[in-house]
This record gives sequence, C-alpha cells and structure tokens, in this order.
Amino acid sequence: MQNVIGIDAGGTLTKVAYINEQHEMDFVVFPSNDFSQVKTWIESRPHIEEIGLTGGRTKQLLDVLKTMKSIQYLVEFEATFKGVKYLLKKNGHQVENAIISNIGTGTSIHYLDGESHVRVGGTGVGGGTLTGLATIMTGISDFDQITSNAAVGSREGIDLFVKDIFKGMEPPIEGHLTASNFGNVNILENAEHKTKDLLATIQGLVGEVITTLSIQFAEGKNCDSIIYIGSTLTNNEHLKQVIANYTILKKHTPIFLNDCGFTGAIGALLYKVELSKTVES
Ligand SMILES: Nc1ncnc2c1ncn2[C@@H]1O[C@H](COP(=O)(O)OP(=O)(O)OP(=O)(O)O)[C@@H](O)[C@H]1O
Ligand SMILES: [Mg+2]
Repeated sequence: MQNVIGIDAGGTLTKVAYINEQHEMDFVVFPSNDFSQVKTWIESRPHIEEIGLTGGRTKQLLDVLKTMKSIQYLVEFEATFKGVKYLLKKNGHQVENAIISNIGTGTSIHYLDGESHVRVGGTGVGGGTLTGLATIMTGISDFDQITSNAAVGSREGIDLFVKDIFKGMEPPIEGHLTASNFGNVNILENAEHKTKDLLATIQGLVGEVITTLSIQFAEGKNCDSIIYIGSTLTNNEHLKQVIANYTILKKHTPIFLNDCGFTGAIGALLYKVELSKTVES
C-alpha cells in the first residue's frame, strides 16, 4: 500500500499520511502557503501512484500538482470522520456517540452518532486565532515557541476570575472560573505583562471559547464525550489542559487522540486504499 497516500490541504497546514518502509502509517506536514514543497516530496517518491485528497485548499493544491497522479477527492468531513474512527479504535476508545471539535485554523464542530455524523456548528476562534493574536501581541509567530512559552505562563494578572469579583464573599459559581478573558487588564492598571503570561492567556481564551461551544452542543445532543482534534493541539499540553479542565468541570469527558492533526489525511488515505481494494477484487 506504499503506492497510496492521503493528503489534507488545510487552511494553514497540509498534512500527508503514508505507509513507510516499516509498513507503518507515518505522517509529514507542510505549510499550505507553499505547495511546491508537497509537489517536491511526492516527486521524490516515484512509487506513489494514487492520492486521496481532502481539505479546503484542495483546488489550490491540484493547480500545483496538476494531474501528476491518480487523485481522488474526498469531502473533508467524510475524511475527518473516517480518520477519527480509525484513531479511536487504535487508541482503544469505545465511543458510540460524541461531539467532535476540530481545532484547525478555525474550529468545526460535528456530532458523531454510530455510523452517521453531522456538522452542528463551529467558530472562527481556532488555531489561527491563537497564532494571529500571539503574533500581534507578543511578536512571536512560531507555533512551538508560542506553546512552550504559554506552558510556563500565568493568566492570573490578565484574566479576571469569578473569585476576583466576589472577593470576601461566597461566589455563586466556582471561583476559579474565568469571569472575563483579559478582563483584569484595565482593572489592574499599568501592569506589565510578560510574553509567556500573554501567551498563556491567549490559549485560555481560545480553549475556553471552543470548550464552551462544544459543551453546549454535547448538552443539546445529550452525549457525554467530546473528542478534540486538530493540529492546534499538537504538542500543546497547556491548551489540552485548559480544555480538559473546563470539559470535566462541566461534567463531560474530553478525549484527546495521538496524531489528532492527521485525521483528514488518514481518512483520505484509508478511503483510497479501500477504493483500490474494491477495484482489485
Ligand atoms: N508547524 C506549525 N506551523 C503553523 N501552525 C501550526 C504548526 N503546528 C501546529 N500549528 C497550529 O495548528 C493550526 C492548524 O491546525 P490544522 O492543521 O488542524 O488546521 P488546517 O487544516 O490547516 O485548517 P482548517 O481545517 O481550518 O482549514 C495552526 O493555526 C496552529 O495554531
Ligand atoms: Mg483542517
């Protein structure tokens, strides 16, 4: 099956899933603003014959690849769904129904029910918001630098927590909940904010908006589990912690999957593999 690959050309990143020389599934990532890198990677592997392709930038990638191989397009939600099912099984999860929140450049939210799935909503707040705000507010645009700084930052002096408002009183809701993301800035006038604290606070904002929305959909669909995927979570324990804490506090079960940035690419690969098997048989 080394002749088949799956590609997810997303808003920010292009993910490729392929079978390596050890016959295991492997992954590689390219920036979506330079498709020539994807083309070079494919061209240096002449054994690749068939490509399953998905993602919003499919047309733009096709324009660069031209018709160099047999390429099959798969709708992004179908590919993601297939990839999620595969990773759930691989990670040993048994989930009948769940909300899937795909934190890509933006965030797309789906409801998975057995073999069916439906898009229930989304928000423009996602990984692009994280890197965009980080760049404007701190000058740091590198994703790894953003996440490693955020991990050692504190939100205390920037966010306003419920306990800050209800000082000396019993708050009506849990005191450590965020009352206002960035809401402490103008209350603690003239405070200096460290880069790492700003980055931690941006992650808090992004994570909490997405979790709040995901929980509302989970409650609407009466389901317990919320599966969070997308490259924004890659090596980003801090954001996962923000999301997990809030999801658990709201009595839902967060599920994080290894390789969660690659669900679309995995789905596109599996789809193409299944197709070629059908043709063979
Ligand atoms: N190496 C990286 N370079 C840039 N961003 C990264 C990197 N690794 C992780 N990210 C984060 O992942 C986000 C993109 O996630 P993902 O690849 O799931 O989205 P996408 O598929 O490109 O976008 P969409 O699905 O919305 O079209 C970025 O916005 C950023 O926050
Ligand atoms: Mg995507």
